[in-house]
Amino acid sequence: MGKLCCFPKFRLARIMGWLQIVLGGLVIIVSISSLIRFYSAGFFSPYEDMCRKFSGMKDDYDDGFDIKALSDRVGEVLNRMESLQEKLELKVKQMERNKADLFRNNITRFEYKKYLEEEVIGPLYKAHIALRQIRLPKVEGIRNSTMKEEPLINTFVIEEIRKYITPKENKLGKINIYGSERIHNTIGHACVLFKKELEEYMDYDIGSYCKDDWNLAQRLMVNGCDPLPRRRCLTRASKLYQKPYPINESLWRLPDDRNVRWSNYQCRNFECLSSKNPKRGYSKCVGCFEMEKEKLKWVTNSSLPVDFLISDVLAIKPGEMRIGLDFGIGTGTFAARMREHNVTIVSTALNLGAPFNEMIALRGLIPLHMTLNQRLPFFDNTMDLIHTTGFMDGWIDLLLMDFILFDWDRVLRPGGLLWIDRFFCTRKDLDDYMYMFLQFRYKKHKWVVGPKSKDEVYLSAVLEKPPRAI
Ligand SMILES: *[C@@H]1O[C@H](CO)[C@@H](O)[C@H](O)[C@H]1NC(C)=O
Ligand SMILES: *[C@@H]1O[C@H](CO)[C@@H](O)[C@H](O)[C@H]1NC(C)=O
Ligand SMILES: *[C@@H]1O[C@H](CO)[C@@H](O)[C@H](O)[C@H]1NC(C)=O
Ligand SMILES: *[C@@H]1O[C@H](CO)[C@@H](O)[C@H](O)[C@H]1NC(C)=O
Ligand SMILES: *[C@@H]1O[C@H](CO)[C@@H](O)[C@H](O)[C@H]1NC(C)=O
Repeated sequence: MGKLCCFPKFRLARIMGWLQIVLGGLVIIVSISSLIRFYSAGFFSPYEDMCRKFSGMKDDYDDGFDIKALSDRVGEVLNRMESLQEKLELKVKQMERNKADLFRNNITRFEYKKYLEEEVIGPLYKAHIALRQIRLPKVEGIRNSTMKEEPLINTFVIEEIRKYITPKENKLGKINIYGSERIHNTIGHACVLFKKELEEYMDYDIGSYCKDDWNLAQRLMVNGCDPLPRRRCLTRASKLYQKPYPINESLWRLPDDRNVRWSNYQCRNFECLSSKNPKRGYSKCVGCFEMEKEKLKWVTNSSLPVDFLISDVLAIKPGEMRIGLDFGIGTGTFAARMREHNVTIVSTALNLGAPFNEMIALRGLIPLHMTLNQRLPFFDNTMDLIHTTGFMDGWIDLLLMDFILFDWDRVLRPGGLLWIDRFFCTRKDLDDYMYMFLQFRYKKHKWVVGPKSKDEVYLSAVLEKPPRAI
């Protein structure tokens, strides 16, 4: 009886041993096969040939064959196999050491199966897929020399990312509505630097529920992996989504707590986000979730001359301000006030520690989930107004700011207003930043510089873009 019950353990140890041998063999085979691949790519041909190949790397690339990506991929597979082998060896060693336990403890067949599945078959499968995915020199399906291999494709192993960035040919080889032969889905080039995170983001079962990982998505975006790939999984929603309040109530009321998924925040409801709570979990726009405070903004005379009233700014161009962008971080109060003046404002929003996007949307306003990294998704000369507050401060690099301001200038229409609201920086930087704003030769309607603290100053301005009939 005793003998019988212990039998599976012996088998496990023996199987482990065999697995080790098999894996060792696999590693050797993979090494050899990758060597052969390099050989066939001309890497180990006689000397002159080799030199020619190395100096001619660029040509290889132009042929649509990405040697670096190939060697990266092979390297990755080897690493995977090596770490698997090490893990198995370690396990076997442990078993040897605790020989006594080995006889005493039973491992259930279920555990055994789970171990094989998770620790052995999974990694082997991934390594196998990675090898399969190497694209060899002759890329099939090139109909035209205009079709190039997608430059990032060999960088990624996760099948879903590769599917996403592979150019999609139009059906029947036709020209599509844009006049092009295929559609390229785009991702930010910095995605390459965040390969591990992006692969985690794109690792899901198609059609199933996504992980609750909007914060991973946002982290990728702010780090330059912007645009992010789309996904084919179902986004989770809050458990009991209540219908939003009607617009005559929603603008100035804290939304229902149940309409937000709170799991990735420190707080679990809107009350908790109050500035009085030291553990609220965010540091930008403190107090923006308190409606009594928000109601005072831009409508009551403030003690600071750098605060302008909405009515005064709109009076500069009566009836002309209809659409605009609020670039900053907040809960949409500027847009809410402007809505009362029949002006439609889109508010940029990032969920930096608090549900800013959800809050704006639940108030009945439009949140635009975007970062500083990208060109604004508006056409040239279209916006009546750009308002900015609480975001671009003295931390910002001057060159970055230049690119951003030129982009704002692009989307503002002639006669449109740029409202810089409480920009602040150190006194010694003020001249540089003033130059930034003045270089566009906008008409100055308002321009106020005031003290913020001993070393810092505020700058507020309302500037009008001139006509550019060139
Ligand atoms: C091992 O399994 C046998 C029967 O399968 C059982 O009688 C025995 O108690 C188990 N030993 C331990 C340590 O769980
Ligand atoms: C290849 O491109 C040329 C223009 O560069 C076009 O006239 C031709 O139709 C294309 N052929 C195919 C098969 O797409
Ligand atoms: C909002 O409008 C609805 C009808 O559109 C009305 O029944 C409700 O009383 C209004 N609420 C407030 C606070 O005015
Ligand atoms: C703000 O102050 C100005 C004069 O300084 C006054 O005319 C105006 O009515 C005040 N507005 C509000 C909303 O208190
Ligand atoms: C906004 O539009 C509504 C309906 O057209 C109008 O009744 C209201 O007076 C307008 N509000 C302002 C501030 O112009």
